[in-house]
Amino acid sequence: MKHDEFYIKKTIELASKGIGKVSPNPLVGALLVKNNNIIGSGFHAKYGSPHAELSAILNCTESPENATLYCNLEPCCHTNKQTPPCAQRIIKEKIKRVVIANTDSNPRVNGKGVEFLRQAGIEVTQGILDQQGRELNEIFFTHIEKKRPFIHLKWAQSLDGNIATHNGNSKWISNQKALQKVHEFRTKYDAILIGQNTCLYDNPHLTARLNNAPIQARWRVVLTALSVLKDDLNILKDQHRSKTILITSINDIEENAAIVAKFRQAGVHIEGVSEQENGILDLHNVMAILSTYNICSVLVEGGRSILTSFYNAMLWDRISIFIAPIFIGNGISPFSSLNINYIEQTQRLSEIKYELMDDSIHCLIKKGRKSTCSPV
Ligand SMILES: NC(=O)c1ccc[n+]([C@@H]2O[C@H](COP(=O)([O-])OP(=O)(O)OC[C@H]3O[C@@H](n4cnc5c(N)ncnc54)[C@H](OP(=O)(O)O)[C@@H]3O)[C@@H](O)[C@H]2O)c1
Repeated sequence: MKHDEFYIKKTIELASKGIGKVSPNPLVGALLVKNNNIIGSGFHAKYGSPHAELSAILNCTESPENATLYCNLEPCCHTNKQTPPCAQRIIKEKIKRVVIANTDSNPRVNGKGVEFLRQAGIEVTQGILDQQGRELNEIFFTHIEKKRPFIHLKWAQSLDGNIATHNGNSKWISNQKALQKVHEFRTKYDAILIGQNTCLYDNPHLTARLNNAPIQARWRVVLTALSVLKDDLNILKDQHRSKTILITSINDIEENAAIVAKFRQAGVHIEGVSEQENGILDLHNVMAILSTYNICSVLVEGGRSILTSFYNAMLWDRISIFIAPIFIGNGISPFSSLNINYIEQTQRLSEIKYELMDDSIHCLIKKGRKSTCSPV
């Protein structure tokens, strides 16, 4: 058991090398071990590249016959995809034992890979470091199981809880370290989403710009009315504009045919969704549209109306708040109405981690099942 945990931990480390590159696939690492020696290792490096199990087999320094294969995720067994099924290859190579952390909740696999191996006489141990494996693949599991993208809300605020001044100025509340952390998030997620006013006030590029690394384009999603957008906004004119998706109401698209044609001509995507009774775009429909683009994870960067809508719709999995040592006074808070009249109506959040970032604090909240707050 100790050996199993040791090697599964290593597969999780290997798998994490694919962060930000394998979506919509899961992060997977694999090791082949014989007589307590690693004879092969591999990981899923990017979407469309060989699966981790195959990489480990191809990298073997000796025959994998009778070896143990460690893998954080159940090997696949289905055939209607780009790469041949790993379970078949494992049987062909006469691997003796397979140890995994998690079964794959993709309905096309979901235990069938394990069953296929067992029927071929291979011993399979599952559930080793199950929790760590699920955390590693939280985006993949959320997307498959909740049938919507993984959603991370993020904002920067002053000590007195404002995300901007009363006239909408918010550059820059957070410090350099916090900004780099946000760019790190951006490299991890498939899409960055903002509201119309943030797009107009801040004119962001919404690309991932990590120190010393080339700029990475992500999907950029703006919930907006079409007629308010100016042609010279960065997301509409820069070289990544084919990665911009404007989401508006179906009526707005019908009423603005000329604008739709102009933006589409420039390579920008435009999608229409129904509105709720209160006139705002239905976020569940927005998430469904994003799934059609194979977007499995979204970083929601505000502003206040957007953050409020996501929170009230309970559409979030993580929240990051960067708290800077400044006061703004009469400014804009991260939420408008949460329909709270009494403290007992509030939701006491759990699973909170605090990280010191020079003079600021990063507060990372996971949507948890516990009802008590436990600051570290
Ligand atoms: N400190 C930070 O981290 C941070 C981050 C981002 C933004 N900000 C600041 O926040 C301010 C902007 O916040 P804001 O509340 O004015 O605007 P916002 O959230 O950026 O955009 C709100 C607009 O988006 C449209 N929208 C479409 N679908 C929506 C939905 N489902 N829910 C909510 N809105 C939807 C609405 O337009 P219609 O009214 O036309 O329907 C709404 O007025 C700026 O000052 C910006 O600098 C700060």
